[in-house]
Amino acid sequence: MPPVDLLAGLREIVGDTHVVTDPDSVAPYAQDWTRRWHGKPLAVVRPATVAQVSSVVRACAAAGVALVPQGGNTGLVGAGVPQDGEVVLSLARIDQVGPLDPLGKTLMAGAGSTLAQLQRAAGTAGLDIGLDFSARDTATIGGIAATNAGGERVMRNGVARFRIRGLECVLADGSVVRRMSGVAKDNTGYDLVQLMIGSEGTLGVITAVQLDLIRPHKIVGTALVAVSTVDDALTVLRAVQRDFTGLEAAEFFHHDGLQLVLKHERLAQPFDRPHPLYLLFDLADDDNRPDAYDELTTLLTDLDCVRDVVLVANAAERRRLWELRELQTEAVSAEGVPVKLDVALPLNQFSNFERQLAAVVREVARHAVPILFGHIAEGNVHVNLLNALEEDADGAVTEAVLDLVASLGGSISAEHGIGLANRRWLPLTRSSADLAAMRAIKSALDPEGILSPGRMLPERVVPNT
Ligand code: MLT
Ligand code: ZN
Repeated sequence: MPPVDLLAGLREIVGDTHVVTDPDSVAPYAQDWTRRWHGKPLAVVRPATVAQVSSVVRACAAAGVALVPQGGNTGLVGAGVPQDGEVVLSLARIDQVGPLDPLGKTLMAGAGSTLAQLQRAAGTAGLDIGLDFSARDTATIGGIAATNAGGERVMRNGVARFRIRGLECVLADGSVVRRMSGVAKDNTGYDLVQLMIGSEGTLGVITAVQLDLIRPHKIVGTALVAVSTVDDALTVLRAVQRDFTGLEAAEFFHHDGLQLVLKHERLAQPFDRPHPLYLLFDLADDDNRPDAYDELTTLLTDLDCVRDVVLVANAAERRRLWELRELQTEAVSAEGVPVKLDVALPLNQFSNFERQLAAVVREVARHAVPILFGHIAEGNVHVNLLNALEEDADGAVTEAVLDLVASLGGSISAEHGIGLANRRWLPLTRSSADLAAMRAIKSALDPEGILSPGRMLPERVVPNT
């Protein structure tokens, strides 16, 4: 079917105004948040129901035109932006929130509902969805499920797949799979829910999610601890975990990242002198100790490796400390388009990685400026390299960093996904048997390669033996 017939067919399915082809209106869907990944889509299609999604997928499949599902477009690896000629399937209009089942502790959510909307909905019942990260106002639950997103509460509640009990998705032939009974025990056949989670739109289009809710923990205090090294930060964390059970989140950032945030945002210096590294954590009241705040103060003051500390309890002050960490992404982006990598290291290799990284990067990009921050509890480092884009045109910078990560036994893709950015390097940590199994799943569920082709899997299998 020629594109013009496909567009007419799509207009019939979703209505004229929801097939967008005008370049200005298409632009926000065609480029990702980092400005590194972009394409020229045939059209953006905005269905309002799962039935419409199904019909859109069928129409695209019949026309042999690939489509890429897109939620809030906050992804960082090019998984949700179109390549030339593809149809962007925006899930933004499928944004219903609820119903919430307070007994079974579940919440239904349309794929286009945002993380913040869902947090608020769960909060009305005194519950929480257990997921949080800085893009909360824009990131949608469909994308969060599709990328198996992580964020700041992973040490406590796990990544997205642990928070999702069921989902509904449209397969490449337009058929709909719906597994949302809500029962906690259900071993009926292969677990298609978990297969879809983290498949980045390559196996199906997620249209709705059933979230598993938790009872939120009351935060006793938030600490920003200045230290000299990553090993010192880990020593502080170990001491806190030895004396308390409620560690809720633990993040880190460096002096240079903090300076960027202070340069681009109107925020105050947290300390009266600079320090090399900062550890930020929340402590919850699991132990129900009335003096927990004071005990934490004493612990942190007594630790030799702590250079300085700010400990706060009220919500506004806590938010201000968190902004110093959460605004790092935007501050980096305000400086330029970075090479953005998202890796995880075994904790005992974390400082080794930081020590070797600068030299490894300098070899391939002499003027690169690394800004590192992330989720220290999981060894998850967001490596942002400014002034390195040109040298990474053929992937040399990415390869140097990911080689180092693989040699230290880490993950080359921690929580942002594979998309277009990382697919070449899957063989670094996935065997040929592993890749062959993934390819078999892809071709069984999407034999014509209609859904997000070219993402996730490398061009060809390179044995890593
Ligand atoms: C974060 O932790 O801030 C996000 O994963 C975004 C990023 O890495 O830039
Ligand atoms: Zn992150």
